[in-house]
Amino acid sequence: MAKILITQHIGEAGVQKLREAGHEVTYRDETEPMTLAELQTAVRYTEGLVCLLTDKVDTAVLDAAPHLKMIANVAVGYDNIDVGVASKRGILVSNTPDVLTETTADHAFALLLAIARRVPEADAFMRAGSYEKFEMFPPLLGLDVYGKTLGVVGMGRIGAAVARRGALGFGMKVLYTANGVKTAVEQELSAQKATLPELLRQSDFVSINVPLTPETHHLFTLETFRQMKPTACLINTARGPVIKEDDLLVALREGIIWGAALDVFEAEPKMAPGLAEYHERLVVAPHLGSATGETRQKMVETAVTNLLAGLAGQPPPNALNAEQLP
Ligand code: DGY
Repeated sequence: MAKILITQHIGEAGVQKLREAGHEVTYRDETEPMTLAELQTAVRYTEGLVCLLTDKVDTAVLDAAPHLKMIANVAVGYDNIDVGVASKRGILVSNTPDVLTETTADHAFALLLAIARRVPEADAFMRAGSYEKFEMFPPLLGLDVYGKTLGVVGMGRIGAAVARRGALGFGMKVLYTANGVKTAVEQELSAQKATLPELLRQSDFVSINVPLTPETHHLFTLETFRQMKPTACLINTARGPVIKEDDLLVALREGIIWGAALDVFEAEPKMAPGLAEYHERLVVAPHLGSATGETRQKMVETAVTNLLAGLAGQPPPNALNAEQLP
């Protein structure tokens, strides 16, 4: 039996499963993350931690958790956890890949279509009572998607699922950046690997699908936007800090790029000053990539399965650092 802390609301099913396995579970059924001080106090006797991407589990927290054996993140991204420090201390870390791949790619494509066809602007236009007559060239002219070029920055699981939607559903030519050549997508989708500048120069839609690392932090700045087509749109369902938001606002205002659709933000839940007030050719959503009931449930189940395995001394199916442990 281990002492488990669940930091935020995850629904009763996951909690129940951990309790049924005989563990002593402290469930903080709240939708706000704890402050650092609260988390430090809460983890003092914790052996198994279930956390969300809004819980920052860094050295300050790990220092306060001398009994911690395993961290099960309920997210595929794990930039909220200092995996390097956890590994040195023999703490297993797991994430929830695969179960959210298609759902997040669906959302990336929903945003792509929403920005290209100006769906939120059209909705606001209707609700403001501005639809008075049919016009051949209305104020809300959009962009064609079918047959255009899609640039996927980061050809991991989600990037490949976005690419598949573009190539197979919308007849798009796919360019991508990745570490190493992804033979499967090259064959299946006739996707072509490109350098980032090449991809930016040619793409009509650029989808960000890289994890947040020191290398991808502020990968998109004014300099990057200037390499894109003035008719291009940027879609980000990965992590907010990959884009320098102040620069994006300049790029939109000055017409350096045509539009952007963002699901993630530099300082969530806030947006950079000015971005929230900017409505034209900008679509925003509150980090909903994996947010369907079915997928969020699967993410919880995956995290619970990982934690139960790790605490039982078995390899968690989605361990991130099993090989790095001392
Ligand atoms: C993840 O799992 O990393 C997603 O951002 C959550 O929706």
